[in-house]
Amino acid sequence: MPDLLCSLVDLPPVAPLLEDLRGRGVTVRRPNPWEQTALRDFILRHFTVGWADETAVAFHHQPVTAFVAHAKGAIIGFAAYECTRRNYFGPTGVDPAWRGAGVGKALFLASMAGLRELGYTYAIVGDAGPVDFYRKAVGAMEIPLGGGHGIYPLAEDPMLRSLR
Ligand SMILES: CC(C)(COP(=O)(O)OP(=O)(O)OC[C@H]1O[C@@H](n2cnc3c(N)ncnc32)[C@H](O)[C@@H]1OP(=O)(O)O)[C@@H](O)C(=O)NCCC(=O)NCCS
Repeated sequence: MPDLLCSLVDLPPVAPLLEDLRGRGVTVRRPNPWEQTALRDFILRHFTVGWADETAVAFHHQPVTAFVAHAKGAIIGFAAYECTRRNYFGPTGVDPAWRGAGVGKALFLASMAGLRELGYTYAIVGDAGPVDFYRKAVGAMEIPLGGGHGIYPLAEDPMLRSLR
């Protein structure tokens, strides 16, 4: 799966999406530190332990580098950033029962704004699954790796390899 590059310069506004979701009883905000276990449980229920571990890094930053969507007091989606590596978006996921309702896009755009707030001009989606979702949302482009690969299959730290 490819790594994608997203420009943060002219992001689409997230406010209209948040307003629309609010009208349907969905709120989007950063998780509080005391909600870490609830978020971990959500990720383990719907996704993987690896995603839960990546997202745990979000709680070591202030502000927390993640967003969650709630409906009827329950978490229905999440997105994390600045976790897997600096400037990376992800992981992200929406409860299957809530997909297609704009929750994933709102979480993604909120996270892009969060990365821009940290001073970045571009963001990276590592090992992107639904490429068209990212392309549609912000015009994400595949990063040409020239036959190489992203960080996931690396057996060694690139910094140490360059010291040879
Ligand atoms: C990818 C995911 C987060 C999208 O969340 P969602 O809430 O269903 O997405 P939205 O409803 O906000 O969709 C926004 C737009 O993207 C489109 N879209 C959603 N999922 C898509 C997909 N997998 N591929 C292409 N387009 C997609 C929607 O049709 C919508 O288009 P529109 O703006 O023209 O209406 C969700 O499908 C999910 O949790 N997938 C499993 C986990 C995953 O793959 N995470 C990403 C890992 S890199």
